[in-house]
Amino acid sequence: MDNQPKTAGEPVSRRSFLSYSLGLSGLAFSALLGVPLAGFALNPALVKENVKWLEVINIEEIPADQPLRVNVKFRRKDGWAEKEETKSIWVVKLGGEVIAYSALCTHLGCAYTWREEQKVFYCPCHGGMFDIQGNVTGGPPPRPLDRYETKVENGRLLAGRLMRKEG
Ligand code: FES
Repeated sequence: MDNQPKTAGEPVSRRSFLSYSLGLSGLAFSALLGVPLAGFALNPALVKENVKWLEVINIEEIPADQPLRVNVKFRRKDGWAEKEETKSIWVVKLGGEVIAYSALCTHLGCAYTWREEQKVFYCPCHGGMFDIQGNVTGGPPPRPLDRYETKVENGRLLAGRLMRKEG
C-alpha cells in the first residue's frame, strides 16, 4: 500500500484529465478520417464529371467494315507540367454506327491487332480474340472490348469516357 498522503480529489482529476484527453483525441482522429471518407463517398454525387473529348478522325476517313487504328495526340496536365501524349483507338464503321474501342485487350491490357484474313482482333499475349463488334470469340479475355462514348461534331469523330461492357 501507498503511505503517501493524498490530496483530496487528485486521482479523480487526473483520471478525468486523461479521459477528456482521450475523448478529444478520439474526436479529432474521427474527424481527420471521417471528413475525407465522407468526401470520397459523396464526391460522385456532388462533383460534375468533366469528360474530356478527344478528336479522333474525320468520319469520312473511316472505311466501312474495316477496323482502323488511329493514334490520337492529346495534351495531359500533370500538376504544373503539361505534356503531349498519344493514345491508340480502334474505330470501326458498321452500318450506320461508328464504334471506338480501347486499344487494350480486356484480359491483361496488351495491345491487339486486326487480322483481316480471320476477321478478328487478335491479342498476341495469350491468344485472346474478339469479333468486329468487340465480343470475345476465343482465349482468356473476360469481357468484350471496352468502348469509348462517341459523338460526331463538324464531321469529326470525338471519343469521350471509356465504358466497360460486361461479358
Ligand atoms: S492480354 Fe490479351 S489475351 Fe491476355
